Amino acid sequence: MSRRSRSIDPKSPPKIAKRAHLDPFGDLSFLRPPSRPLRPGQPELGIFPREIWARLAAKHWRRANRDPEHIDSLGYRPLRQAVCDLVGRLRGVHCNPDQVLITCGAQQALYLVACTLLDPGEPVWMEDPGYPRARAAFISAGLKVIPVPVDSEGLVVSVGKERDPKPRLVFVTPSFQCPLGALMSLERRFELLQMAKEKKAWIIEDDYFSEYRYGKDPIASLQSIDGNQRVIYIGNFSKSIAPSLRIGYMVLPSVLVDAFKNVRSTMSRQPPGVEQAILAEFIREGHLERHLRATLRVYRERQEALVDAIKEYGRGLLEVVPGGTGMYLVAWLRPRIDDQSVARMAARHGVDTVPLSTFCIKPLRRKGLVLGYSAYEGNRIRKAVKELCSALARLR
Ligand SMILES: Cc1ncc(COP(=O)(O)O)c(C=O)c1O
Repeated sequence: MSRRSRSIDPKSPPKIAKRAHLDPFGDLSFLRPPSRPLRPGQPELGIFPREIWARLAAKHWRRANRDPEHIDSLGYRPLRQAVCDLVGRLRGVHCNPDQVLITCGAQQALYLVACTLLDPGEPVWMEDPGYPRARAAFISAGLKVIPVPVDSEGLVVSVGKERDPKPRLVFVTPSFQCPLGALMSLERRFELLQMAKEKKAWIIEDDYFSEYRYGKDPIASLQSIDGNQRVIYIGNFSKSIAPSLRIGYMVLPSVLVDAFKNVRSTMSRQPPGVEQAILAEFIREGHLERHLRATLRVYRERQEALVDAIKEYGRGLLEVVPGGTGMYLVAWLRPRIDDQSVARMAARHGVDTVPLSTFCIKPLRRKGLVLGYSAYEGNRIRKAVKELCSALARLR
């Protein structure tokens, strides 16, 4: 993570807070809008049922003179009820609507947790490699970030204990480790929950891709198997609907609700009320789950297209293991190839990728590229992989 923002002139820097220099992803200025294949993080918007959304939007805007209730800093109650039912059905999350706080996406939830539960200087275990925006939120809140490695079962709890035996907070992405994709094993989940119980640590469960499992039944969410109220469950609609909707949610242990309400109401109020009302009805009428099933089919085919194209064009250049979930994959580069320079070169050839090192606190021995497939049709994926591999072949 770069600590200097490129837009600040080093000769006459304005006097600003240190946190304002944080730039979560470092220099990714070579990725410019509009996004091109194989840029990760983009859902397929073409199959979104926009007529239904438009119908609900018209209905709720017509009612807008009866403004949805804005006073409760947890968010619009019918949406909290809809989210509560949804996460109960899909992820076995136990809650009532008064434990649900509607956010402007996962990012706000992360910052809110950091500011509500910890004081500056207190330690947080962070998956490494891990989600750079989570790390940025924690650093910005003045927390001490302890990098903890991940393996094929997820966060390695035993190494975390060696690095800092008394974390106050742990950040994990158990359904799809960001970015390597491991599904946290049940054994590891219980090990983490036990540590949290003994040390009175809080756990953020960022369940950001849980809807997209191909073929297998999902493993129970951490929240659903925690008997000690240590888990803050975070979800969002940035992947299942669109990042620009900027609506997400958190499910809080009951004992924390009042504290979160206090901090939330000083930081912001709620996301836009009419959008919350539209989304509540969209979920309640079953449209979200129908859309999830439709996108799941499409994403599975696109992952196959990406893996097949890499097998065909990437022999000896790129290595990829198909995942059982998600919207992107990590493709490993040959040893000693630098992912930052490859990503820049790929962008010059019309292919967008994110270097794996962007997600790392401690450098990994082998470098890789994060390749998104969810938003691109099979023929565009093939073309991009072909282009990327011919550029890589020229590096030999
Ligand atoms: C690990 C992880 N969590 C959550 C999100 C969604 O964040 P937001 O809701 O702020 O768009 C992302 C988006 O890329 C992510 O990678």
